[in-house]
Order: sequence, then structure tokens, then C-alpha cells
Amino acid sequence: MTTLDLLRRLMGDVPVFELGHVWLAGAGPGDPAHLTLDAVAGLAQADVVVHDALVDPRTLAMRRDGAVLEFAGKRGGKPSATQADITRRLVELARQDKRVLRLKGGDPFVFGRGGEEALTLAAQGIPFRVVPGITSGLAGLALASIPATIRGVNQAVILATGHGADTEEGLDWAALAATGQPIILYMAMKTLDRIAAALVAGGLSPETPAAIVVSATLPGERVLTSTLADIASDAEAAGLEPPAIVAIGGIVTVREQLLALMPRVLEAVS
Ligand SMILES: C[S@@+](CC[C@H](N)C(=O)[O-])C[C@H]1O[C@@H](n2cnc3c(N)ncnc32)[C@H](O)[C@@H]1O
Repeated sequence: MTTLDLLRRLMGDVPVFELGHVWLAGAGPGDPAHLTLDAVAGLAQADVVVHDALVDPRTLAMRRDGAVLEFAGKRGGKPSATQADITRRLVELARQDKRVLRLKGGDPFVFGRGGEEALTLAAQGIPFRVVPGITSGLAGLALASIPATIRGVNQAVILATGHGADTEEGLDWAALAATGQPIILYMAMKTLDRIAAALVAGGLSPETPAAIVVSATLPGERVLTSTLADIASDAEAAGLEPPAIVAIGGIVTVREQLLALMPRVLEAVS
């Protein structure tokens, strides 16, 4: 049975990848177990897969026989393609009547530049479709037993980037601290010390629980819990490296509560 046969059985109608179309798709946080059926349908039909660095090799291996892989991400040390280069390439491939799967980690519209790519494709008259993925900010937390929301603790959750936190364009961290709502940070490992200091200066308690989830869903997954005051130095001492998600707020304590209760669960199933 081919992948498309299986998808037909599971989905009924499988969306048809038309020639000259681009699908802007999310591959989820890493482990192929978190791919959507729509993303698999894209992999099973695409002629070219233009992918970022965070897309797992096992996911790329699911592409149809003969589909070409094009890397469009950042790779340590080597010059990476600019966003303009990437969108130009997507337009070029679509105009060659290729079925182009633009595959990104997580969700393409969450800190993934999918919005910019959609706008450029639309402006150029290229038909495209958005295939959502599970964003690492939510999946990473869930897998570390940290709920993004929990009744009585928070009524909102802030997804923020740490990118640019050390520049003039950085976020107003005091304003975020003033909301009292948990903050989930992407791309924040380099600037975590500054962000933590700015949040404390903005009124958050230095004792606010904080956690880092590294390589969520992947074999190298690691979870570190600490406080806002210590999270950056603890991460450095533990040698934590990106990709990582940082969670700050009362939601983090749920992890400790669940871990403490696990012996009861294990007892019940043994
Ligand atoms: C350019 S952003 C892309 C975010 C992506 N579009 C999403 O929705 O997850 C890259 C950042 O996402 C986070 N990230 C992506 N995959 C991750 C993973 N498996 N574990 C932890 N963080 C991850 C890290 O903060 C990383 O620096």
C-alpha cells in the first residue's frame, strides 16, 4: 500500500497537490510522530521539498521517490540563504510547474516566516496553501508536563521571541511582566540573561518558576527547571544549546506536581 493509499483510507479525500502550487507546511517540533496527515500528503506528492534546518531527517525521508530536497535554513558557519533568496526560489520553482513543499519546523506561521512567504507568493500570483504544524512552544511544554494554560494559574499565555532582545527593537519586557501571564520564549538562549533581568526589573519575582526544554520530542531532549533569577546561569552550567523553548511562570510548577504524583500512577499500572 502506498502512502497516498493509506492517507485516502484515513482521510477520505486527500488534498491534491497541483502543479505550480506551493504548500507552506509545518513539520511539528521534530519527531515525525507529530506530523499532520496533511503534511504527509504534501511529502507524498511534492516534486521539491524546500526545508529548514529543524526539519528532522526522518521526516524528509518520507518524501516521494524522486522528490528533490533543497536546504534553505541556517547551518553553522556557512552563509545561509536570505529570506529574499528563499522566496525568490519558491516563486521560480512554482513557475517551473513544480509542486513545491516549503517545510518548516513547528508551525509555519509561528516565528517561522511563513507569513512573509505567503504574502510574497500571493503578490506574485503563485497559488499556495498553508498546512499548519504543531508549534514547538506548545508541544515542547506539553511533553515536559507543563500545560500552557491551567485554570486558576493563567488566563492568557504569551508567545515571544528572544531574537533581538539585546537591540533597540527588542520587546518591552516590563510590559509583558506586568501582565502576570506566563511567557513562552522561542530563540531566547543567547539573550536569556538579559530577558530574565528585564523581567525582574519589570516587576516579576526572581523566584518565578522557569523551565527550558531543549530538542523537544527528539532523542537529545532535556528539561531544566529553575527560577527566573537563575535560569540563564543554570542553563549555561548545564551546557544547554538551542533549539530550546523557555517557559516562565506558575504553569512550570505543574511539572513538579506531576512528577511527584508519578509513583502513584506507576503503582496503579504495575
Ligand atoms: C525560527 S523558530 C521556528 C519556530 C517554529 N516555526 C515553531 O512553530 O516551532 C526556531 C526556534 O523554535 C524553537 N524550536 C523549534 N524546534 C524545537 C524543538 N524541537 N525543541 C525546542 N525548541 C524548538 C527554538 O526556540 C528555535 O530556536
